[in-house]
Amino acid sequence: MVIDQGLEEVRELLDRMDRWEMPQKQEAATLMRAWADSQGSWRPEGFEKLPAKFGMIGASPAMEEVFGVLARIIRTDVPVLVLGESGTGKELVAKALHQNGPRRKGPMIAVNCAAIPATLLESELFGHVKGAFTGAHRNRKGYAEAADGGTLFLDEIGEMPADMQAKLLRFLQNGEVRPVGGNVAKQVDVRVVAATNRDLLQRVQENAFREDLYYRLAVISIQLPPLRERQGDIPFLVKYLLGVQAEEGMPVAEVSDQAMEALTQARWPGNIRQLQNELVRASAFAKGGRIEVGDLSDSKS
Ligand SMILES: Nc1ncnc2c1ncn2[C@@H]1O[C@H](COP(=O)(O)OP(=O)(O)O)[C@@H](O)[C@H]1O
Ligand SMILES: [Mg+2]
Repeated sequence: MVIDQGLEEVRELLDRMDRWEMPQKQEAATLMRAWADSQGSWRPEGFEKLPAKFGMIGASPAMEEVFGVLARIIRTDVPVLVLGESGTGKELVAKALHQNGPRRKGPMIAVNCAAIPATLLESELFGHVKGAFTGAHRNRKGYAEAADGGTLFLDEIGEMPADMQAKLLRFLQNGEVRPVGGNVAKQVDVRVVAATNRDLLQRVQENAFREDLYYRLAVISIQLPPLRERQGDIPFLVKYLLGVQAEEGMPVAEVSDQAMEALTQARWPGNIRQLQNELVRASAFAKGGRIEVGDLSDSKS
C-alpha cells in the first residue's frame, strides 16, 4: 500500500545477507529494488541504452506524447487523471510524477479504492477518532493526511462509492481532512493523482460518477496506450523487463528472433504486466538459456 519501503529494513537485510539461501536473496533484491525504485534511483544494468523518460520505457509516438504531457506538468500541483487498460503503466505514471517533481522528498501514498470495503473507505482515507465506531480504539490518521507534503495516488477511482465521491470532492476543494467522528479539520497539502481503467466520462453519463468530481480530478488527463498499439516498444520492454528479472536473481533466458517477433505481434490484453509475467514464465521454461516460440503461452494473443 505504502510505496516507500523502509531504508532500515533494507539495511538490516544487507547485514544478514551472507548467510542466506537463494530465495531469501531474491526477496531481498526485490525489497531493495522497491526501495530504490521509490527513490527514483533504481535501474537495471544497460537501462541507459534503452529509450526511456521519467523511468518509463517508450519510444513510440503515443509514449512520446505521454512524456510531453508529463514534462509540462511534473513541476506543478495540478490533479492528474491517468487512464488506460489494466497493466499499461498507470501507477508507474503516478510514481514518475511524484519522483521527478518537487514533492519527491515527501511521501507517496497509494490507495486502491476498489480493494477497500465501502464502509471503511472514509476512515482509511481521512482517518477516525477514538470511539468513532465499534473497533475504533484509538485515533488513526488516514492516507490523505499521511500523504501531506507528497502525493496521494487514488487507484481505481471509478469504483468509488457515491457518498465517498462527495467527501473526496470536498477534500479536493478545501484541502481539509476531517476524521470520521471528529469535529476538527486539518489542512493538508497533497497532490492528487487518480487512475482508472474504466471509461470515466461514460460513468459520468450513467450517473455513476459525479461530474463535478470528474472535472476536479481530470484537470489534466493522460491516456496510456494499450501495448498492442505500441508494438515498436515491445523489444525495448522485453530487454528492460529481463534486466529487472536478472537483478532480482531470477533465471533469465535470451529471446530468439522468432520468439521476439511473436512477443511483438501478440495482443497482450493484460498489457505490460502480462508481458512481464510471460517473460518470467518463459525464462523458467526455456531450455538452453534461450526462449523459443514454443516456450511462449497462448494467453497473450
Ligand atoms: N513504460 C514502462 N516501462 C517499464 N515498465 C513499465 C512501463 N509501464 C508499465 N511498466 C511495468 O508494468 C507493470 C504494470 O504497470 P502498472 O503501472 O502497475 O499498470 P496499471 O497501474 O496501469 O495496471 C509494472 O511492473 C510497471 O513497472
Ligand atoms: Mg494499477
